[in-house]
Amino acid sequence: MLTISNLSKTYLKTKKVALKDINLNIEKGEFTALLGQNGAGKTTLINILAGNVKKTHGEVKIGDHDLENSELETKKIIGIVPQEISYETAFTVEEILKKQAGYFGFKNNNAYIDELLESLALEDKKKAYGRELSGGMKRRLLIAKALIHKPEILILDEPTAGVDIELRHAMYEFLKKLHKSGMTIILTTHYIEEAEKLCKRVVVINKGEIIADEPKDKLLKDFSKEIKVEIDFDCELSINDFKFLSEYNVEIKDKKKLILKIVKNDLTKVIEKIVQKNMKFIDLNIEKQSLEDIYLQLIRR
Ligand SMILES: Nc1ncnc2c1ncn2[C@@H]1O[C@H](COP(=O)(O)OP(=O)(O)O)[C@@H](O)[C@H]1O
Ligand SMILES: [Mg+2]
Repeated sequence: MLTISNLSKTYLKTKKVALKDINLNIEKGEFTALLGQNGAGKTTLINILAGNVKKTHGEVKIGDHDLENSELETKKIIGIVPQEISYETAFTVEEILKKQAGYFGFKNNNAYIDELLESLALEDKKKAYGRELSGGMKRRLLIAKALIHKPEILILDEPTAGVDIELRHAMYEFLKKLHKSGMTIILTTHYIEEAEKLCKRVVVINKGEIIADEPKDKLLKDFSKEIKVEIDFDCELSINDFKFLSEYNVEIKDKKKLILKIVKNDLTKVIEKIVQKNMKFIDLNIEKQSLEDIYLQLIRR
């Protein structure tokens, strides 16, 4: 559905290498998270797919079409929700959507426009001007705009940045529904819970390189040997008290809580060591790693 091969991008003016030899193959119907910190290269990648930024090397195929030779064809297949909110202040929501539909030769699609507006809870904003919309509404309008030509792939560039929690959850539900109906979705985000909740595949990009590309469940399982142990004591702690655990990653939180990241197999050994030191703890909590922990570890590597 989407094949990216050996894709690189260096911005000429600044000589900034934004993407290094990216390879990514997205199958029809996948829901993929593209995770990366600020400056990782997510928007550059999406801008190349959108035809807004020229690649330096490599090849992109969208459907059966080469991005370079068939710009119009590839534009029909993908819908892109950009990171930057554009302000079409002088037009109404309905006009903006009709104009966008017009680019793709769609006419008389009033029923579809109504359907889109309703599923994005914008139906009562149809006649509102762009300037009258809140930030969250503008984001949703961008989603409607990206879907107006019924693309096969929807690519969203941090769609929930700056959107309040309630709206974010409404957006998740909308994306889930789209995915169920067969849409291929790529979501870039730095909200890891978003990737954890929605996506089946997680691609991590760091400094322009893909450093992980795995089914989410596998990623979680591979790292599940590592656990986070929280031990509460009833006295104040000093990190110096735990020199005997220096081979582990030790932290003190809220003065009385010891936090350890260890492999599961070391748990007995660690507890024994603490008991041998005659240190009495009052509570013990063991947590499996979240995608967030894994992500941070991947980036540090
Ligand atoms: N137009 C540009 N000119 C020069 N450098 C750019 C431009 N756009 C982005 N960059 C640089 O490329 C890198 C990747 O940026 P970007 O793709 O926006 O990352 P992300 O979306 O993951 O935050 C950053 O170092 C950024 O400063
Ligand atoms: Mg970005």
